[in-house]
Amino acid sequence: MKITIVGAGAVGASCAEYIAIKNFASEVVLIDIKENYAEGKAMDLMQTSSLNGFNTKIIGSTNDYKKSKGSDIAVITSGIPRKPGMTREELIGINAGIVESVAKELVLYSPNLILIVVSNPMDTMTYLCNQVLNIPKQKIIGMGGALDSARFKYRIAEVLQCPSSDIQGMVIGGHSDVGMLPLTRLATRNSIRITELLSKNQLDKILESTKIGGATLTSMLGTSAWYAPGAAVSALVHSIACNQKKLFPCSVLLSGEYGLDDICIGVPVILGHNGVEKIVDVDLNQEEKDKLRISAQGVIKTNKLLQN
Ligand code: 2OP
Repeated sequence: MKITIVGAGAVGASCAEYIAIKNFASEVVLIDIKENYAEGKAMDLMQTSSLNGFNTKIIGSTNDYKKSKGSDIAVITSGIPRKPGMTREELIGINAGIVESVAKELVLYSPNLILIVVSNPMDTMTYLCNQVLNIPKQKIIGMGGALDSARFKYRIAEVLQCPSSDIQGMVIGGHSDVGMLPLTRLATRNSIRITELLSKNQLDKILESTKIGGATLTSMLGTSAWYAPGAAVSALVHSIACNQKKLFPCSVLLSGEYGLDDICIGVPVILGHNGVEKIVDVDLNQEEKDKLRISAQGVIKTNKLLQN
């Protein structure tokens, strides 16, 4: 199993590290445009292999996509990250051009790959990849919901003062501060609905802190977060690579599912060897449906900027 990660910044390097530590891939290729940067990160990570006990070979390359040839899965993290006070949508001008050229290079050398898009604004970048690449939509997956769901579970666990492994929960909708839709009604602690365990005020606070999860970290770190994004990507890659058929909310091209068409937005999917094995239909109530529709309108507005 060969995996290429483009962008050896903090998110890309964390992805590579978590993938290597899980020890399921034979090779991880890190690519970056900055001279010697990916090579340096790869060497540093390889020097952890005897300590962390993995056999995955990590190699770095300065913009040489030939090194990615024959990749089964590729991850695009390239582009500029958010700075404090910026929305993900504001990155579109610079990131659209970068993501398009990176995606085309990757597919040139690995026409059968499954692509995971992380660069922001992620839903629109995933849509762009669907427009410019000639590969099936099941093979283009935007990573946002898995991260937002992890942040949601963290916030619930924090309030309940329990381990997050006790919590089940999911965030669907656009990967944006206003658009994401934590499914509070369906979240549980070991099958007990959190709506039975927490007050409305507590639930509202969890909802709000989840939605601004990325922005909160950006203001604390001065740039966007990397550990949880890296871990979320590695979980998606693991499910695809090992055909685990796990369920994650991911941004995928919809054709009528959830009443939406010609848009990439976060919905629950099963990930396996074929990429998106299935889009899972969750029975949303009217309020949730309305919120998803409003979230979709926001994503469509950002998608329209691609035409400029
Ligand atoms: C975040 O929410 C990177 O968009 C990502 O941190």
